[in-house]
Amino acid sequence: MSFDEFSADEMPKHVAIIMDGNGRWAKQQGKNRLEGHESGAIAVRRTVEAAAKLGIKHLTLYAFSTENWKRPKVEVSTLMTLLVRNLRRELERMTKNNIRLSAIGSLSKLPNKVRHELQEVIEKTQSNTGTNLTLALSYGAREEIKQAVIDISKKVKNSIINVESIDETIINEHLYTQNLPDVDLLIRTSGEVRISNFLLWQIAYAELYFTDVMWPEFDEHELNRAIKSYLKRERRFGKTSEQLT
Ligand code: IPE
Ligand code: IPE
Ligand code: MG
Repeated sequence: MSFDEFSADEMPKHVAIIMDGNGRWAKQQGKNRLEGHESGAIAVRRTVEAAAKLGIKHLTLYAFSTENWKRPKVEVSTLMTLLVRNLRRELERMTKNNIRLSAIGSLSKLPNKVRHELQEVIEKTQSNTGTNLTLALSYGAREEIKQAVIDISKKVKNSIINVESIDETIINEHLYTQNLPDVDLLIRTSGEVRISNFLLWQIAYAELYFTDVMWPEFDEHELNRAIKSYLKRERRFGKTSEQLT
């Protein structure tokens, strides 16, 4: 599939994905849930490289939510171990593909090993100029918004900003995603049709795309399908169709 007929302006600048279905996919294969996460990691690599190939500027992946801490201990620790291993393993390919890594979430809650590995890959890929890959780890949108409210309130209290000047720009600047544009396209795999506390503020006008494909089976073809669907839509942002032309 080629997107040559579309200008860079029409392509989504920010694609976010709720990577869901690792456990169910594994079960379908007669495997253990944890093996689903291993296969999910391979799908991450495929998808990141496909997005880079398409010139997607920002790709944000929901890898672990604030609620996922409630999963069985072994599953949480396996996910953390996989994260460390894959960060280490992917550094070289990320560099080769000009990918810049960032992370959002309550990162202080992550185990030290994960934090250190993450920090290292973020630093080593900092000057890459291709796709900006953001991993949402221990991420919850309500937690993010709560933190922004606290930070803004403190600044008001200390007369750093006044209440009347609080606007959407100031709120944006206090979110983890301060350096990212709004999400254009949000994809969720596995057939679930919900947001699960992901980027609530940033998806205000995103196009939503749900697919039954389980995350371990997601690939370049599926990403292209989602983008093709996005490109067919008319984003009106409240206006009438006539006003857009
Ligand atoms: C997504 O797959 C990965 C994480 C949430 C960490 P799941 O583990 O949620 O898989 P299902 O939804 O149980 O199939
Ligand atoms: C959302 O998936 C979180 C991630 C993909 C990391 P979940 O599997 O945790 O979501 P729910 O519990 O089905 O809503
Ligand atoms: Mg799930």
